[in-house]
Amino acid sequence: MTSQTRIPAHPPAHPLEIEQGVSLRELNTFGLPAVARALVRVRGDADVRRVLDHPDLGRLPKLVLGGGSNLVLTRDPEAVVLRVEVTGRRLVEERPDAWIVEFGAGENWHEAVAWTLDQGWPGLENLALIPGTVGASPVQNIGAYGLELADRFDSLDAVDLVTGRGVTLDARACAFGYRDSVFKHGGFGGLAGKSLITRVRLRLPRPWTPVLGYLDLERRMADTGNPHPDARTIFDWVCAIRRDKLPDPAQIGNAGSFFKNPVVSAEQCRDIIARDPHIVHYPLADGSCKLAAGWLIDACGWKGKRVGHAGVYDKQALVLVNHGGATGAEVVTLARAIQESVYGRFGIRLEPEPVVV
Ligand code: EPU
Repeated sequence: MTSQTRIPAHPPAHPLEIEQGVSLRELNTFGLPAVARALVRVRGDADVRRVLDHPDLGRLPKLVLGGGSNLVLTRDPEAVVLRVEVTGRRLVEERPDAWIVEFGAGENWHEAVAWTLDQGWPGLENLALIPGTVGASPVQNIGAYGLELADRFDSLDAVDLVTGRGVTLDARACAFGYRDSVFKHGGFGGLAGKSLITRVRLRLPRPWTPVLGYLDLERRMADTGNPHPDARTIFDWVCAIRRDKLPDPAQIGNAGSFFKNPVVSAEQCRDIIARDPHIVHYPLADGSCKLAAGWLIDACGWKGKRVGHAGVYDKQALVLVNHGGATGAEVVTLARAIQESVYGRFGIRLEPEPVVV
């Protein structure tokens, strides 16, 4: 008689691990204090479905947490925190016109950029050193140095947080805008709080063409006498520029730019320039104008100012920082004071970029 091993039809799933009373301080780049009453690490679609089927957790609201780099925690979340830890990176397809590369949503964004370059698939170099995860990148359509995620996006997979069904969204469905997407909007048609991104596919065009229009990169070309940098050189330049003016969240808590650059009508822009000829502004194709929020805040004298344990970074007024021990409430108080003073002087309402919980 031969011995038989029974192979189950479905391999046993690992049990749902629910962590209770978890400090979120290390899980948000601002280093703000808050405690999750329940936190689940999501390593795949099945974990989401098990949370939804859970008798207690299923009914609670859900807070999806990636790298915590675009988040201001002002209190302990009521929601169950779903920490996205889906890993994996692979070349999906090599086409004559593009490489299609897929990442698990929990992969670190900067490491993903560096990995594509190492593989010989350039195209993400302008987005080097942006904190956070790949899964968070479509949410606010991350952008820097003349490029935004939407320019390199192919599609993503997500799980519906009500039905547990998997969906695939293309760029159109994501409705990308400047630091904006369908994932930032609640209400009808919006997906904020309603879905969890598990995988993102990026499209890196072939042949590669550099994106060099941004002033800081033009300066580097002039300073180094190199008008034809390769992707690796652009990557190194972007890293150096960012390290120069943006605080490293590992050293000093922050969430990158705290406000969006406001877009105003051509008429408003003419008015403002008449009053402040030095204002930094970028004309847009439709006649409207994007203003540098950092410049507006700086002009109101905020650079380097501190309010309690929160402050305005001394090299870039658009970045609010945690000098150590700040609470979310202190950050929000500071942000409101900045909004009021910019409104008082320029009549412009600044809109926060991070999600405030
Ligand atoms: N400026 C000042 N004072 C300041 C800060 C800026 O005068 O304190 C002026 C600068 O001299 C420059 C202009 O404002 O002429 C714009 O500044 P910068 O080039 O540093 O870019 P930004 O508009 O402040 C945006 C993104 C950044 C991105 C950079 C580079 C937004 C809200 N921010 O910043 O994104 O890295 O361009 O492309 O769009 C982020 O979103 O978290 C982020 C860091």
